[in-house]
Amino acid sequence: MGRTSKDKRDVYYRLAKEKGWRARSAFKLLQLDEEFQLFKGVKRAVDLCAAPGSWSQVLSQKVGGQSSGQVVAVDLQAMAPLPGVIQIQGDITQLSTAKEIIQHFEGCPADLVVCDGAPDVTGLHDVDEYMQAQLLLAALNIATHVLKPGGCFVAKIFRGRDVTLLYSQLRIFFSSVLCAKPKSSRNSSIEAFAVCQGYDPPEGFIPDLTRPLMNHSYETDFNQLHGPARVIVPFVTCGDLSAYDSDRTYSLDLDNGSEYKYTPPTQPPIAPPYQEACRLKKNGQLAKEFLPQECSIDRVDKLSQPLAIHTLLAPKVRICTSDTL
Ligand SMILES: C[S@@+](CC[C@H](N)C(=O)[O-])C[C@H]1O[C@@H](n2cnc3c(N)ncnc32)[C@H](O)[C@@H]1O
Repeated sequence: MGRTSKDKRDVYYRLAKEKGWRARSAFKLLQLDEEFQLFKGVKRAVDLCAAPGSWSQVLSQKVGGQSSGQVVAVDLQAMAPLPGVIQIQGDITQLSTAKEIIQHFEGCPADLVVCDGAPDVTGLHDVDEYMQAQLLLAALNIATHVLKPGGCFVAKIFRGRDVTLLYSQLRIFFSSVLCAKPKSSRNSSIEAFAVCQGYDPPEGFIPDLTRPLMNHSYETDFNQLHGPARVIVPFVTCGDLSAYDSDRTYSLDLDNGSEYKYTPPTQPPIAPPYQEACRLKKNGQLAKEFLPQECSIDRVDKLSQPLAIHTLLAPKVRICTSDTL
């Protein structure tokens, strides 16, 4: 897909670059705030799974009067610095990272913890949902250590098979839990956000990092929870009909006869996974992708070796010509 066609197809992607946000996700947090006034009175906040940093940008502008050290951002990946934001590079499911985060809040708890964490999706829905739930529980575990009573926790959630269990778990710690879908989150995505307000842990609850919260086996069908254990949370869509629809394509708003001017991303990725492929392409070493559908079945049958589908290095490529078949 060309750069312009992506800008045209994804209006929030384009707007993010125009407005200087590092990612389109910024609009999700802004729209959640519009609906729930998340930032009201917030002085200290934690941004878990923060890279490339658009939520941290929003928080640093909206929280704590922009004084330094009020926002702590954490991610597995390196993130370009942001003024006033303390950065920690680490895995939020690891004890060492959790401890490092908590030490910034000793004696001075946070008002808001947000987590936009997403695992690298595999396409196997059960696995992806499980990984996402684990990230959410790791984030909740950290939140129980740093949040002040009455504080707020917002986390990305996949509305999958076992989501009811997550809601029940969250309700143990917060007086209000609901599921929100900002307009900038595509309808086609099972992503939504758990908005948990009024941190109020059960009496006598002592947060313990070494015993991950509510780690469970996934053998039971949790949607069969019933009685007081089954919590059905309200579902809220954020944004009215005037907001852009993230599933629609919008024209590029060009003045008569003018040409579209491409805006580069605000913060290009520091070490993207495709870096190696770019290097190979620059050196002319990247092979053309060789897909099975490019060969007719009878030609594939005659191949002396199995068809290599994703071959990166040119020297290893088998060229599909009549001579080789
Ligand atoms: C959707 S992106 C977050 C976008 C971010 N909110 C923003 O506005 O720029 C999801 C992030 O989760 C991070 N992540 C996934 N698993 C993690 C983990 N176990 N610990 C820390 N970060 C993690 C990924 O590295 C990725 O940067």
